[in-house]
Amino acid sequence: MKLRLTNATVRHPAARAGAPAALRGLDLAVAQGEQVAVIGPSGTGKTTLLHLLACAQRPAAGRLQLDDTDPWALPLGALQRLRGRLFLAPQVPPLPPRQRVVTAVLAGRLPHESLWASVRSLVHPTSIALAEHALARFDVADKLFDRVDRLSGGERQRVALARALASQASLLLVDEPLSALDPARAQQALASLTQAARERGATLIATLHHVDMALRHFPRVIGLRGGALAFDLPSAQVTPALLHQLYAQHLEELAPTAPPAPDAPVAAAPVPMQCR
Ligand SMILES: Nc1ncnc2c1ncn2[C@@H]1O[C@H](COP(=O)(O)OP(=O)(O)OP(=O)(O)O)[C@@H](O)[C@H]1O
Ligand SMILES: [Mg+2]
Repeated sequence: MKLRLTNATVRHPAARAGAPAALRGLDLAVAQGEQVAVIGPSGTGKTTLLHLLACAQRPAAGRLQLDDTDPWALPLGALQRLRGRLFLAPQVPPLPPRQRVVTAVLAGRLPHESLWASVRSLVHPTSIALAEHALARFDVADKLFDRVDRLSGGERQRVALARALASQASLLLVDEPLSALDPARAQQALASLTQAARERGATLIATLHHVDMALRHFPRVIGLRGGALAFDLPSAQVTPALLHQLYAQHLEELAPTAPPAPDAPVAAAPVPMQCR
């Protein structure tokens, strides 16, 4: 799925009066199959951007187009069908506690299945091999029949990623997928996620606090600051100076690092980079 934002502004309905818009005047075009990482300090609008793209949040001004269609101009039924083609994996995985892992993973497919198939699969999971395959990509296939509430935080996060892959969606929106993972698992999870999205031709947009991993695994990186676009560049062109500007006054979100040489390429002076 391809997408375009034109001068998009988002205000949260519950925001206090006079609060600045969470996203302001955003212009963005992402082609079918592209992989984009979104970085920036906490509270800068990354999650809001994913919600906007997932049609969970309506723009207050400007326009969203998914495959050249304005979702908010569609009748409700067509909007729901469109939502079925995208998958938002939230920052905190919404996995029902007593559910088995296999059921949780296959629930990601529900929008693509008939009502009868959905009900049947919740009672007696079919497509078990598919769930197992998705879990194996994140090294948690052995948890197939475990209960979700008996998993560690990192295992839950990897199950949530497997669920995103099992969904067959053509737009994957993944919010902070690495927060509960150790560095080795985080590397592996991102490599699996990007590879699986590539194999399927799905468009992938992920918010990441791990700046080094964003640069390593994604060909294109967007920096958000104060709800506006700070930069939108191929990852090879994201310099330490740009990162320091992006995180200015939030440098605690970057690991301690030497001051950047102006415009030095990241490869020459690897900065950041574990945020939080
Ligand atoms: N439901 C909400 N109601 C009101 N304001 C909100 C709501 N959700 C977020 N905001 C505000 O919108 C702004 C952007 O929030 P958002 O969650 O998009 O930031 P973020 O970049 O994802 O932050 P983090 O890195 O901490 O996850 C913040 O100022 C936040 O306080
Ligand atoms: Mg967020």
